Amino acid sequence: MGFTTLGEFILDKQSDFPGSSGDLSSIISSIRLAGKIVNQQINKAGLAKHILGWAGSENIQGEQQQKLDVYADEQFRKALENRKMVCGIASEEEDDFITFDNNNKDAKYVVMIDPLDGSSNIDVNVSIGTIFSVYKRVTPVGTPVQLEDFLQPGTAQVAAGYIVYGSSMMLVYTTGHGVNGFTYDPGIGVYFLSHKNMKFPEDGRIYSINEGNINSCEKGVQDYVKYCQEDDKATNRPYSARYIGSLVADFHRNLIKGGIYVYPATSKNPNGKLRLLYECNPFAFIAEQAGGIATDGKRRIMEIQPTELHQREPLFTGSKNMMNKIASMM
Ligand code: AHG
Ligand code: MN
Ligand code: MN
Repeated sequence: MGFTTLGEFILDKQSDFPGSSGDLSSIISSIRLAGKIVNQQINKAGLAKHILGWAGSENIQGEQQQKLDVYADEQFRKALENRKMVCGIASEEEDDFITFDNNNKDAKYVVMIDPLDGSSNIDVNVSIGTIFSVYKRVTPVGTPVQLEDFLQPGTAQVAAGYIVYGSSMMLVYTTGHGVNGFTYDPGIGVYFLSHKNMKFPEDGRIYSINEGNINSCEKGVQDYVKYCQEDDKATNRPYSARYIGSLVADFHRNLIKGGIYVYPATSKNPNGKLRLLYECNPFAFIAEQAGGIATDGKRRIMEIQPTELHQREPLFTGSKNMMNKIASMM
């Protein structure tokens, strides 16, 4: 690992945005701070009973909220509000968007967040993550934030990233100039640039899908999974199935090793399970910046016009040649 810290990298990259006020840098900094705080609690989760398990509530999508879901949501909200660069956020864990109009009415940016992704894996000590995405508001600065500021297509993202709380903590992000990854050194409390200009291998050998749902997936998906399982020396098949059940960790592995992640429409989730604003769009931006592809099976994810905050979409994302193969079967 080199000696470039995330702090230095952010300052250096500010020159990518001529005339920049540094607001975006400040947003990334608040996320890196909240990530450290959440990571500390996650590391204690097995020991600290007050932080493990169900919070006793459900989010608007009817999913059980874990105590860490609620905790992480609070930490990211506070960190983002505190820096005064964000006028509102939308979170997977909140019913509606939250405005910071009282304190931050001159701020230009809104942030979408999945504070804790893969939260069903908390209690079993498996990698989880945080996903974020940043947009410029479309309504005038100084006026109250509106729903339309949040319902922007993914092509309007100015930054997106994720934190993976794994065997080590990593923060990976893009501002539209490639993708870079930083590994946290807990001994000194600093993230170092460890994965410079990350690129999906064009070919991969890993497919990630919840195969328990295969019978209710559309035929193209079933055919592709069969293709992955066939014996063929020339293309090095069968491929390996890997599915953690934390999108952040599954995507991160596939980005490094080469692979494809698919959460298609199923009979239980006819629009797929993953949320367009908090999960699909940020990963689509990162995937494209890393030379990969992200679709809903047919359409480019980032061109979908959202109509509601918690909208779900099928997600197909990963290495270019694998994505082209599945597209040819859909
Ligand atoms: P979240 O914990 O934020 O609700 O997200 C869970 C998501 C995603 O991380 C994962 O890939 C997927 O749900 C797993 O769903 P299945 O259990 O249906 O496979
Ligand atoms: Mn999630
Ligand atoms: Mn979540």
